[in-house]
This record gives sequence, C-alpha cells and structure tokens, in this order.
Amino acid sequence: MSATLPPSGPGAHGSEAVSLAAERRWAFIVVAIIAFMVLLMVVTGLHWASMPPSRVETVDVRTVHLKGEFVESNLGTTLGPDGKVTVRLIAQQYSFIPQCIVVPAGMPVTFRGTATDAIHGFVIGRTNANTMLVPGFVATFTTSFPRAGEQLMPCHEYCGTGHEAMWGHVQVLPPEEFLTKARSGERLSCVPR
Ligand code: CUA
Repeated sequence: MSATLPPSGPGAHGSEAVSLAAERRWAFIVVAIIAFMVLLMVVTGLHWASMPPSRVETVDVRTVHLKGEFVESNLGTTLGPDGKVTVRLIAQQYSFIPQCIVVPAGMPVTFRGTATDAIHGFVIGRTNANTMLVPGFVATFTTSFPRAGEQLMPCHEYCGTGHEAMWGHVQVLPPEEFLTKARSGERLSCVPR
C-alpha cells in the first residue's frame, strides 16, 4: 500500500504510519460496535422469546364467553371493595358488550377488554381512553373522566363491513350518583333492560 503513495517531503513515512495506526484503531472500534449491536439483538431476541414481556395478558378466545373474567354476567362496571372502579367489556362484530358503559367522573377507572373475532378498538369521545382490542389478549388501561356527561365510543379499527355501525355509549355520572348506584354490588351498565 505504501508503494502506491508518493512520498511528500520529509516525515512522509512517519505520518503514513500514524494514519495507518489510526485507521486500524478506527476499524477495530467500528467492528466492536457492530459486534456489540449484533450481540444485543441476539440476547434481547432470545430473552423476549423465552419469556413474555410484562403486562401482556392472554385469554382463551374459545372459552372467553363461557368461563372466567369475561363471561356476560361479569361484564360492565364494578366498584371493588377497595374502591377501585373496573370496566370489563368485549368487542365483537359489530357491537360492544355492554353497549352502554357507566363510569364516574373524577375517579380513576380501569378498563379491561378483549375481542372475540377480529381486531377491534375504541376511543371514548375526546378523552385519552383509547385502545385496541385483539382476540386472545386483554387490553387494559386506567384513565379518568373530568366531566359528567354522555360520550360516544366508536370502534376505531376496521373490523369488517359493519365497522362504521359499531358504536358504544359511555355515561359519565357525577361520583355521588355513581357510588349510590354501584353500592348495590352488581355489574353496572346503562343498557336499557
Ligand atoms: Cu369493530 Cu371496527
């Protein structure tokens, strides 16, 4: 390589050796960075493959209607003994169960939902309540609704020909009114009976 470089004045040979050493050092650093990244991919890939990431909950789609948390009698809003408000719902082509959800204003509300047939999702009015509902997985998030009132809850994942008609309603009640209703201990909803 040195043969192809024309000598340029005194000390040319020395500077060539310096630049070669720098080049070699840099090549070593680049190879080390690449090797580190490949190692990172392999380790994280194996780690994620060997155990599910936290907060991923699965549910058996075949039995979701028959047993466990998402049986029909357990859907709707509950007030736990610890004062926690939980809404459980199911999405299916082309409706939500329950179709009308009751929540209190100004209190944290945890949603737990899943889907039985296709990927659905919902957003509640202009709030930040927004999730996808994927068959086989439990979607969960906690939010609160600042104001009482009626909100619309459309499905926001294209799920088939009836997608545009897939809507739910959310009634945000003043907390006192909600707590009075919820003390009865049953699953609340605002679906007309
Ligand atoms: Cu369900 Cu779109």
